[in-house]
Amino acid sequence: MKIVIVQDYEEMSRALADAVAEVVKSSQSPVLGLATGSTPVGAYKMLAEFFAQKKLSFQNVRTVNLDEYVGLGSDDEQSYVSFMRRNLFDLVDLQRQNTHLPNGLATDLQQECLRYRRVLQQNVQDLQILGLGTNGHIGFNEPNTPFDEQTHLVELSPNTIHDNARFFEDVSQVPTKAITMGIAEIMRAKKIVVVANGSNKARAVRDMVCGEISERCPASILQTHPDCTLIVDTLAAKLIL
Ligand code: GLP
Repeated sequence: MKIVIVQDYEEMSRALADAVAEVVKSSQSPVLGLATGSTPVGAYKMLAEFFAQKKLSFQNVRTVNLDEYVGLGSDDEQSYVSFMRRNLFDLVDLQRQNTHLPNGLATDLQQECLRYRRVLQQNVQDLQILGLGTNGHIGFNEPNTPFDEQTHLVELSPNTIHDNARFFEDVSQVPTKAITMGIAEIMRAKKIVVVANGSNKARAVRDMVCGEISERCPASILQTHPDCTLIVDTLAAKLIL
């Protein structure tokens, strides 16, 4: 894994936005794997600025997102589809039919997982962006998820529900289930960029980079990916320096 240590959130966001822009420019129909959470928001803002300044077009870009909460749809501002519209899709020239997320409102969730597996087979990521859970999760692949898992339904861990409660009025409103891209489908990406900032991510960063490759820390599998870069600020890097 290549490790890039930066001073702060701004520099991390710039490095991620530049990596995305490079991939978008390098292909006729690039596929971006996108993440939600607070970490990539700054990079999405910069990508929207590149578009506004006519430096970048997303006209031919296809996107696949990592995950979605079960029970939330586009009319709920906490859904990941709303997050993506607010932070990127509505700010650039992405064509809506080229953007893909699992549908958290599907009546048959198992069928929805199978549908999304097919979407991912047809849209292999040129670049996959990943954030990092404080428990080492990637997407919503919680500790002890088999590394060969494809898109599946997840019961969120108490740790993740607690972490994500900050986006909701109250912890009881955090959905307890989600659909996530599996680790096998994440690892299929040609290139992966992981971003992490803040001291609350330091332990997960250490386990991901220096720990044993084990399903107990889902992100540790990234040590085996042929083209994975970690962009991390000094706070999140403090246990690997
Ligand atoms: C959620 C998402 C992950 C994300 C993680 C970290 O659980 N499913 O994809 O990486 O949160 O979030 P944040 O960037 O807000 O720390």
